[in-house]
Amino acid sequence: MPGSLHSEQRPWIALNMAMTADGKVSGPRERRASIDAKTSMQHMSEFGSPRDHARLLRIRASMDGVICGRHTIESGAIDLGPGPGKYIKLRKKNGLSPYNRRIIVSASGQVDLQCRVFQEDFSPILIATTETGKAACEKPFSTMPWIKIHSFGDSQIDWGKLTCWLKKHWNIHRMVLEGGGMLNDGFFRHSLVDEIFLTICPVLFGGKSNATISDGVGIPNLSDATRFRCVEHKCIQGEMFLRYLAVKTD
Ligand SMILES: NC(=O)c1ccc[n+]([C@@H]2O[C@H](COP(=O)([O-])OP(=O)(O)OC[C@H]3O[C@@H](n4cnc5c(N)ncnc54)[C@H](OP(=O)(O)O)[C@@H]3O)[C@@H](O)[C@H]2O)c1
Repeated sequence: MPGSLHSEQRPWIALNMAMTADGKVSGPRERRASIDAKTSMQHMSEFGSPRDHARLLRIRASMDGVICGRHTIESGAIDLGPGPGKYIKLRKKNGLSPYNRRIIVSASGQVDLQCRVFQEDFSPILIATTETGKAACEKPFSTMPWIKIHSFGDSQIDWGKLTCWLKKHWNIHRMVLEGGGMLNDGFFRHSLVDEIFLTICPVLFGGKSNATISDGVGIPNLSDATRFRCVEHKCIQGEMFLRYLAVKTD
């Protein structure tokens, strides 16, 4: 039921993704956290326009926290921060702290310390993991005090626990989920997505193994699908900017 699980105790959760016209969100799941930034090859996850990127930063500027999966932070030089000064000003105007908090989900705890996000200490980072994952990553991160590690289950993450903890202990009232498809699947299946910001870009990838907005397990029946209604649609220079709200069924 959209928005029903712990809806009082958990943050408002918005998903923000850019997608190709054929529903892909990146090319092959290439790991490139350490690829030279000067490479002339544009990665397949970089198909959105500067306008789409500005929208991502405006959305972050209205959120207390940004959350994503381990593969996403390994897929590029990503810091999950607010971006340039004008967005920090916008955050202040929106009554928020200058820097959003950052949350990375990894059940295994096999998180690469070299990823760009961990080098930036402007705001705390939570690695949301399991007991097994905690044992794997606690030691490597012990010299980085801005990185916190917390377990939300023995071998699987309890989504209710995680989201309620974020509100209660990290004061996260609004959070943006920024992929990838595997993490999004967990949020969709537990009816934890209240709002979707979607950009459809005029490019087509094909490829049955390329990531989509929600990969992973999915749902077994049509009746289990989360329903959304479109509340905004705008086409600018070939890109379609959409916003949806979850249909509450309770
Ligand atoms: N177009 C866009 O807007 C956009 C946005 C974001 C990402 N992307 C692209 O998407 C790709 C990455 O997506 P992805 O689907 O491969 O990976 P992902 O969701 O970013 O990360 C997957 C990892 O996160 C953890 N995780 C995810 N769901 C979990 C669950 N239910 N329970 C416990 N842990 C969970 C696991 O970490 P462990 O293995 O450590 O347990 C899993 O291996 C990249 O290529 C990136 O460029 C595109």
